[in-house]
Amino acid sequence: MTFLFHSDARRGAIFRDAFAAALPDLPFAMEASSVDPSDVRYLITWTVPEDIGRYRNLEILFSIGAGVDQFHLDAVPDHVQVVRMVEDGIVRMMQEYVVLAVLALHRQMPAYLASQKKGSWQPLAQPQAMERRIGVLGLGQLGEAVLERLKPFAFPLAGWSRSARQIDGVHCHHGEAGLAALLASTDILVCLLPLTEETRGVLNRDLFKRLPAGASLVHVGRGPQLNDDDLLAALDDGHLSGAVIDVTDPEPLPADHPFWPHPKIILTPHVASVTQPETAARAVIDNIRRHRAGLAPVGLVDRRRGY
Ligand code: NAP
Ligand code: GLV
Repeated sequence: MTFLFHSDARRGAIFRDAFAAALPDLPFAMEASSVDPSDVRYLITWTVPEDIGRYRNLEILFSIGAGVDQFHLDAVPDHVQVVRMVEDGIVRMMQEYVVLAVLALHRQMPAYLASQKKGSWQPLAQPQAMERRIGVLGLGQLGEAVLERLKPFAFPLAGWSRSARQIDGVHCHHGEAGLAALLASTDILVCLLPLTEETRGVLNRDLFKRLPAGASLVHVGRGPQLNDDDLLAALDDGHLSGAVIDVTDPEPLPADHPFWPHPKIILTPHVASVTQPETAARAVIDNIRRHRAGLAPVGLVDRRRGY
């Protein structure tokens, strides 16, 4: 019975030490060539190896990240449990990033950065936080956590999910009808949806039209959820006032892409949140213990829904 770590060596070394201390009976390998494939019970990776079929006794496929859209789930045998990364480090980094992005848009930083480039001293009228409504698409691990972090600022908070949710201090919407209501009352929209067939292209012209004039976007889900041309059109005709974009399609974004020089866009290279090996190793160890105790792992993916 072996745990196979298939990712970068720096994180691997931290996992190896944590596993040696917490699960000394579980052999830990970082080189696929060093193990008998039939011994591998647990595999952690970012992408599914083409030869996954050789691990015929695999029980859990762990994603090293929060998303599993990079996995071709069809290639994964049905009996294998697929588990996304649920760990405190990812949550904390996402909270920081979304607070930073929401405050940057609220305090009109794209406009001030553009003024600075022109050497123009141009104060703008500033709405108060209680007048700026935040709407979060996706009320999962990350969506709920960022809403929690935004609470002290006094923004009116709302969120949207597939199934009905209840979160203290957050106006929760769900389903298609709920989306219309959320969009009509959102000034800063944050996308924290997983990429699935249903969410691909969701950030498009129709959705932008349903936001109030002057609204803005924080996109930290996945690049293929955003229609780039529709965003550019909505920014250029003034309907949207700004966007903070962390995820693009493709990644890296080509050097000639119009997002780079756009005065209303703040762009970062998919860094909103990154798996932290110390906390991630603890989360995976806990999940192996749960699995050994016959419990479902935290972050178990519903393969039918795709997240
Ligand atoms: P999660 O816990 O699985 O939550 C997903 C949320 O989205 C749930 O509330 C779910 O609704 C909702 N949802 C899914 N499909 C929907 C649909 N068709 N309509 C309405 N709501 C839908 O995921 P998470 O851990 O919060 O992570 C979310 C995503 O963040 C990841 O999948 C990844 O793409 C992205 N991410 C980005 C970064 C970055 O650095 N930019 C880092 C980490 C993660 P229900 O509650 O009803 O199931
Ligand atoms: C990063 O985007 C992740 O899914 O963890």
